[in-house]
Amino acid sequence: MFKGIYLKLVTTYLTLFLVIVFIISFFTTSLFYRELKKQTEEDLVNAGVKTNALMERYYNNEITKTELTAWINAMGYISNIKIYILNPDTSVLHQGDSGEAMTLTSKVREDMVQSMKGETVIDMTSLSLNAESDVAYMTMPLTYNQQISGVIMIFSPVTEINTLLKEALKTIATVILITVLLGTLAILKISINISEPIKEISESAIRIGKGEEVPDIEIDSHDEIGMLATSFNEMKKELAVTEQMRKEIVANISHELRTPLTSIIGFIKGILDGVINKEEEEKYLSIAYEEANRLKDLTKDIVDVAKLESGSTKLNEESFILNDLMQDVYVEMEELVKEKNLKLILEQKDENIEMYADKAKIRQVLINVINNAVKYTEKGHIKCIISKEEEKAKIIVKDTGIGIQKDKISYLFNKFYTANDYGSATGGAGLGLNIVKSIVDMHHGTIEIDSNVGKGTKVTIII
Ligand SMILES: Nc1ncnc2c1ncn2[C@@H]1O[C@H](COP(=O)(O)OP(=O)(O)OP(=O)(O)O)[C@@H](O)[C@H]1O
Ligand SMILES: [Mg+2]
Repeated sequence: MFKGIYLKLVTTYLTLFLVIVFIISFFTTSLFYRELKKQTEEDLVNAGVKTNALMERYYNNEITKTELTAWINAMGYISNIKIYILNPDTSVLHQGDSGEAMTLTSKVREDMVQSMKGETVIDMTSLSLNAESDVAYMTMPLTYNQQISGVIMIFSPVTEINTLLKEALKTIATVILITVLLGTLAILKISINISEPIKEISESAIRIGKGEEVPDIEIDSHDEIGMLATSFNEMKKELAVTEQMRKEIVANISHELRTPLTSIIGFIKGILDGVINKEEEEKYLSIAYEEANRLKDLTKDIVDVAKLESGSTKLNEESFILNDLMQDVYVEMEELVKEKNLKLILEQKDENIEMYADKAKIRQVLINVINNAVKYTEKGHIKCIISKEEEKAKIIVKDTGIGIQKDKISYLFNKFYTANDYGSATGGAGLGLNIVKSIVDMHHGTIEIDSNVGKGTKVTIII
């Protein structure tokens, strides 16, 4: 698969790169060739025009034949060209710089005839890497007093130009080769840089899936790949924490379940074996009954926590009056409060406090919080204050109990967290406030706990 990504990157980049290099070099070469051709053409035409001008001066008797020849020869010499001037009857008026005779191919002859008719013909076919002949030439009409009075022919040896062309092409080819080489190396390096971390991350993911421990991915870039590696490392850390939590939760659950079960089994076995005498049987059976009940509640709490956490719990919202609900809860809790010789005070600051919420869940919240207050208070009272808070309802549960150390308050909503050293018979599993917090969150409400050790605790909920 990674060979796949690597190969894909390399082939895509390389193809793209080579196509671009090819296009650029093709255009550069043809541009260079065209420029060279244009330059040569211009040189030939310029020389032709100058020759024509000299001829005019000669016909006007401004210069002598000797001067004419000297000028033309000088021009031919400087520009490295051979200039021929022919009369209309094709007899030669001037030939070459050293009087060299022309070797005229049939093509040149044809072009000469064209020039007699007034046309300028330029032949550049030899200006190429595989030229058959070694000259480029131009034939143009020699004009005097707007009359064609002959033909000017200029030959330019192209060996030098062709050598220049070859040299230029060689340079271009070398540059292309070096570019392709460096480009390929860069592409290979970039592709490795991109594909390697992905490969590493994927291999790590597979190993994590198998339950193996893997080291962090090294991050040496800040681009998307670096971000991916960072996220992966973070995810790995989260997974490790989650796994640790899972182990702790399983251990906690089994501990919480085992403790009451052990005492229930112990009591039943004691009764069956006759270790517990008849008079005491009822006492132990009622303890076993209470423990079994606690176990039932605990199981319900564990299921609630799991449901709330998985997000499968849906709110069943309705409008109701908080004052009525609070009255119900008050009656329900009264017995428990009396058992501990405490006082439960209900203060309704507002009447008809309307709420739109899941009534059963709000009831669960109230019972949990008041239950805690009762459970962790030995003497004094528990005060419930309800009021309207803008569009919301405010519930305060205050007790005069043992309180909670300040530094432990932030952990109270964690699963299985218990803040004091109450024995398991009195203390709970540490799930109540976790459930309360989840329900409050589902209603987009807030919950705050304030406490002083030895003085009491205040829980404020706004929903
Ligand atoms: N009113 C309170 N006064 C003192 N401590 C409290 C009070 N309410 C909660 N706590 C502390 O916070 C801890 C967590 O409370 P929570 O309701 O989540 O668990 P629990 O009461 O121990 O068990 P559970 O509610 O699951 O039966 C308690 O164990 C207790 O130490
Ligand atoms: Mg509780």
